[in-house]
Amino acid sequence: MQLESVVPWGRSMGEYVSMFGLSDEDLDMRILDCGGGPASFNAEMSASGRRVVSCDPIYQFSASDIARRIEETYPVIISGVEAEKDRFVWTHIGSPAQLGEVRMKAMHAFLEDFDSGLTEGRYVAAGLPSLPFATGEFDLALSSHFLFLYSDQFSTEFHIQSIREMLRVASEARIFPLLDMAGKPSLHLPPLLAELKAHGYGVQVRKVGYEFQAGGDQLLRVYKQPHRNTDVR
Ligand SMILES: C[S@@+](CC[C@H](N)C(=O)[O-])C[C@H]1O[C@@H](n2cnc3c(N)ncnc32)[C@H](O)[C@@H]1O
Repeated sequence: MQLESVVPWGRSMGEYVSMFGLSDEDLDMRILDCGGGPASFNAEMSASGRRVVSCDPIYQFSASDIARRIEETYPVIISGVEAEKDRFVWTHIGSPAQLGEVRMKAMHAFLEDFDSGLTEGRYVAAGLPSLPFATGEFDLALSSHFLFLYSDQFSTEFHIQSIREMLRVASEARIFPLLDMAGKPSLHLPPLLAELKAHGYGVQVRKVGYEFQAGGDQLLRVYKQPHRNTDVR
């Protein structure tokens, strides 16, 4: 991975809780964040006495290199959002300027935590679809704003392999959102759901109380055991 090809953008623990519908019980589980990037979920969880492992190819770079890349890309992202303001829901975050403040706060919390988190093994430089973790090492594997979002760059097969890998290392995978970068439902989703169901995984698409990309308020849960709630749309 070249750092120049990455656009680092990180969300907070509060956003993770809303996006993934995380209960207090969920937060106490052994959690893996796949494609954690510069989100502050790991830093905030660690500060609250809980433990999360985050993996991302970007963790091969130093905190200062990631910080420099954030400074370079930040104005580009904010002006892009300004130009396409109608594609976002401004209920919780009121404006592009406020979005910038919220994201920067999360990314600074990540940067401050990064070196100690690396030493403690909470940040691991690795990427889907092949993870360096033992089978069953986690209860819950999360992926926010990586799978489905970059649907034009990654194939259906990549998505299926990635989710199967998340389910090798964890009992359940949760992925949010299910939209691509253009704000359209990912074309990978229907064949992926069919394939995962055919392999005996339980799947559930569920509405959550978080929507920033307009229409992006659905979470995909995939789990190993058949589940009685088959609310699949
Ligand atoms: C838009 S960021 C999302 C960060 C964080 N999950 C959040 O929601 O705030 C997408 C992340 O996916 C990471 N990424 C790129 N290729 C990846 C791969 N093959 N496996 C896992 N993560 C990858 C990028 O480095 C980047 O940090």
